Amino acid sequence: MLERETALALLREHCPEENAIRHSLASEAVLRALARRLNQAEEDWGLAGLLHDLDYAMTRHDPQQHGSKTAELLNDALRPELLAAIVAHNGEYTGVEPSTMLDFALRAGETATGLIAAAALVRPTGIEGMQASSLRKKMKDKAFAASVSRERIRECEKIGLPLDQFLTLAIEAMTPLYTK
Ligand SMILES: [Fe+2]
Repeated sequence: MLERETALALLREHCPEENAIRHSLASEAVLRALARRLNQAEEDWGLAGLLHDLDYAMTRHDPQQHGSKTAELLNDALRPELLAAIVAHNGEYTGVEPSTMLDFALRAGETATGLIAAAALVRPTGIEGMQASSLRKKMKDKAFAASVSRERIRECEKIGLPLDQFLTLAIEAMTPLYTK
């Protein structure tokens, strides 16, 4: 298994854009928090979050390859179930349907980071004091962060977390990263 520091170095090498790194770190934090809440393997789930967009720069114009390319790059470096979750996070394009807890956690978790980051940008206090209820309202506003899939966020219910609990957990997990 990859060490976390090696994984981060690999990410910086393949995906140097600051926004992409931030999204990956936020996804890692949310996936770790989800693993703790659900008694799953925290290191593994964190790595899946951190590395799920490793091929982002390479596949920007080739969405079919997004996820699959990462699985190719990492090959033996990550457990097969982590690679499968990375491929299924882009299941709409890769054709690999999500099925495991981790698959749904990664899809819902990494998508929620987009909603929360967008909401933090339009709040005077940023992420500080953000509530699940206000995020839920933003989810109903189709024009707000329109590229963020509401359906994917709702996949949190497939891992047994009601939407509000999930959003609260994600806000808490991201807060240290967004208050620096
Ligand atoms: Fe992502």
